[in-house]
Amino acid sequence: MARLLGIRIKNFRSLKDVAIGQVKYGSGEALPSLICFIGPNGSGKSTLLDAFGFIADCLKDGVEPACDAPHRGGIDRLRSQGSEEPIEFEIFFDSDDEGRPIVYNLQIGSDEKGIPVVVKESLRQRRKGEAGGKPYYFLSLKNGAGKVWAGQHVGGRDSKLASRVKLDDRSRLGIGTLGNLSDHPRITMLRRYIEEWYLSYFVPDAARERPPAGAQRWLDRRGGNVGNVLQYFQRQDPENFEAILKRVTASIPGIKKITVTTSDDKRLLLKFDERGYKDPFFQQSMSDGTLKMLAYSVLLADPAPRPFIGIEEPENGLYVQLIEVLAAQFVQQTRRKKAPTQILVTTHSPYFVDALKPDQVWLIRKGTDGFARAKRVADLPNVAEMVKQGIPLGSLWYSEHFGRETEADE
Ligand SMILES: Nc1ncnc2c1ncn2[C@@H]1O[C@H](COP(=O)(O)OP(=O)(O)OP(=O)(O)O)[C@@H](O)[C@H]1O
Ligand SMILES: [Mg+2]
Repeated sequence: MARLLGIRIKNFRSLKDVAIGQVKYGSGEALPSLICFIGPNGSGKSTLLDAFGFIADCLKDGVEPACDAPHRGGIDRLRSQGSEEPIEFEIFFDSDDEGRPIVYNLQIGSDEKGIPVVVKESLRQRRKGEAGGKPYYFLSLKNGAGKVWAGQHVGGRDSKLASRVKLDDRSRLGIGTLGNLSDHPRITMLRRYIEEWYLSYFVPDAARERPPAGAQRWLDRRGGNVGNVLQYFQRQDPENFEAILKRVTASIPGIKKITVTTSDDKRLLLKFDERGYKDPFFQQSMSDGTLKMLAYSVLLADPAPRPFIGIEEPENGLYVQLIEVLAAQFVQQTRRKKAPTQILVTTHSPYFVDALKPDQVWLIRKGTDGFARAKRVADLPNVAEMVKQGIPLGSLWYSEHFGRETEADE
């Protein structure tokens, strides 16, 4: 399975030009398994996370619906103010092949009618067996037309081996179309990987609804089907079902037992037995934090978890003492030998950051031009040293050892 090494984002809202992790071939430090963004309000943390949601939506629904999603408001509001250039993402992926990351470049602009379209799209990789040297294109599309090289290894100058392609719909990503063809295993791998990203837009009220009963394998973005996923585990994987419930009952005081049942009108009911009460409660009566912990437990205890999970401010609505526990659970998840996950979070909580290391945290701040800058906390002066002396990272942040906002340009 692929893994994210780094990303450069250009002209996406306040991210005029921001890079994190490895964004050069052959140099730069790859992103860790847990990536955390901190920084003042309005600095660009949610935007960074939504960049991944946007790429996933472009692949799933096409570029125009992705731009027009209610929280994005169309391509003109998405493009960095004052910029005429396309929105651009350059993503470095590890492809289980040491020294040969795959580089995916995607550029989105508007056509003559102002409708968002894919302007350029390419994939590059170093040739098999070459320890150095530049990567070669194995997909190169401009305005929906160009070349693609089939198979695992070829690309670049071997023009004879390339096939000409022309996409019918410029709103669709080439990796979506070509990634469905078995001749292109590298593109298929990348398509599948991005399709498996999970970007959480958890809404407690969605988890309070009573959806139709029926087992579902994957949690949806808003968490509205958390009961259906539990029903899947209850039926298909009782051992993991118990593990999920154990996590929740251990975290939320008073909850003794959770059961999944079906009402007479075939709706799904989550029954919570609480200490001190004779009758159980159902999901409609449960607190925001309880439902949130339940959704995270479903995500984290999954035996075949998503390879990449993005979560906004996971601490919201959680009791202070639970925040560090949750952060530790995230860290543990990313360290799993079998099926590890890469987790990206934004946070305002020093307690959450206390559980992290300086190379897992990026400080996002606005420069004097209004655009975002990203700085890894490990690269700030003295921070790594003070952590080595035993001072928790969140305390350092809280006591302004990460500098003040006005220093973003340095
Ligand atoms: N098209 C654009 N061009 C430049 N900047 C933009 C554009 N659209 C939004 N912004 C800026 O991005 C900011 C929003 O950033 P974002 O929501 O990512 O902040 P955040 O770090 O998540 O803040 P919070 O901590 O409050 O959640 C806006 O306040 C605005 O300054
Ligand atoms: Mg935000």
